Amino acid sequence: MTEASMDNFHIKFEYRFSRDADKHSEALAIRHSLAKAYAQKHEDKNSGVFIIRSFELYPVPRAGNSGSEVFYLDIYHQDQEQPNRFIAKFQNVYETKKEHLSSLRAKRAKMCSDVEIEVDVNNDLGMIVCDLAKVANHCEYRVFFLELANSDEHCANALCSVLSNVGNQPNNKGERKSFVSDYEWYVDRKSQPLKRLETLVCSGDDSQGVSLLAQGVKKHYDRIVADFDHKVLPYLVHGDLHARNLMVNSRNAAETELIDFGWVHDGHPAKDFVLMEATIKYQLFKELLKEIRPDKAENQHIPVDFFEKFERYMCVKGMWLPAFEEYKESEDIGQHLRQDQIEAVRRVYVCVAQIRKQARVVLNQYISLAGSGKYSPEQHYFAGLFLVVLGLSAMPEMDMIWTLIALNKIGDQIWHSPI
Ligand SMILES: Nc1ncnc2c1ncn2[C@@H]1O[C@H](COP(=O)(O)OP(=O)(O)O)[C@@H](O)[C@H]1O
Ligand SMILES: [Mg+2]
Repeated sequence: MTEASMDNFHIKFEYRFSRDADKHSEALAIRHSLAKAYAQKHEDKNSGVFIIRSFELYPVPRAGNSGSEVFYLDIYHQDQEQPNRFIAKFQNVYETKKEHLSSLRAKRAKMCSDVEIEVDVNNDLGMIVCDLAKVANHCEYRVFFLELANSDEHCANALCSVLSNVGNQPNNKGERKSFVSDYEWYVDRKSQPLKRLETLVCSGDDSQGVSLLAQGVKKHYDRIVADFDHKVLPYLVHGDLHARNLMVNSRNAAETELIDFGWVHDGHPAKDFVLMEATIKYQLFKELLKEIRPDKAENQHIPVDFFEKFERYMCVKGMWLPAFEEYKESEDIGQHLRQDQIEAVRRVYVCVAQIRKQARVVLNQYISLAGSGKYSPEQHYFAGLFLVVLGLSAMPEMDMIWTLIALNKIGDQIWHSPI
């Protein structure tokens, strides 16, 4: 691209970076120069094939705040009506480089296509550009799950589709870390779940119940750290498989695609399964209860003792969750819940059952390949689930009481399962 054509080249940003006009212009200028640098390389790479006319960047609507700015990027070429569509993500240089390296790892494993990177060291800003998900009519799994018109079976099918490609790439050359250090990233979060747990353990008389629950969780955590004696045979994992990093064809649940490869690494193969289970049980479940009764805010809550029994059942049944009807009858859940709440429970249950069914197969294979019979697949799963849920527990979207109850039940189950 010549300097002259660079000057004609137009970038449209549909976003305000700050309410302050000067700060906004400054932020815009930094991003403009990254986009220009990218355009230059993009054109040089395709030299003679096309000339870029303009860029348009529209923010991706976000649920929650993850610290990165993600945009849909439309690139218009000269003599071409329709733009080429990409995703552009801005974050600091460290995060950008880290994500780029993990994405290259994912690319080598054929999990994603090319990922381009630009960095502006002086302003500590980087940009990653990747292809838009290829699955037609894609939406985030979270959106698909919360759409009441979709059936529970379709929600489970989408998980089945993505999980059939997960947890089956061992890396025999990788270093074998201890189980706890392999999950360290998940526990050692910005939200400081361990510090919060300590605070709850020490909380005063008014919250005696909470303090007791927290003490139980702390005991389980300490026991895992001291006793869960397993060296992980590393497998390729996505590492951040939650409901917003899975795209699904909204008209055909069997077509799915993973996105966001910043956490791809070699580690324990239960990770992708347990993170998805945690997201469904402790985040989407609440959202679904609201979705079903949007008009009646006071009806969103389900009794804590129901939740406790639900979690206990899911723990005791381990990797073999019976059909929902069997659960419903045996626990007589109609006594505690209204019909619409039962519908939400059904969706969650069916999806978790699907996740565990596939995790069972993966973990059985894992144990035979890792040559480690000390712990059962169920123990591997629940120990991973415990650490991941503990890691998520201090996030604002998690319900404190639910997670404390769940962590106690999951912790109990790790040591009660048959070896
Ligand atoms: N390749 C992609 N195709 C379609 N949508 C995407 C793609 N990458 C990101 N998105 C959208 O942007 C959101 C945030 O992007 P993501 O890479 O997951 O950022 P973060 O690291 O902040 O979670 C995703 O949840 C999704 O809705
Ligand atoms: Mg993401």
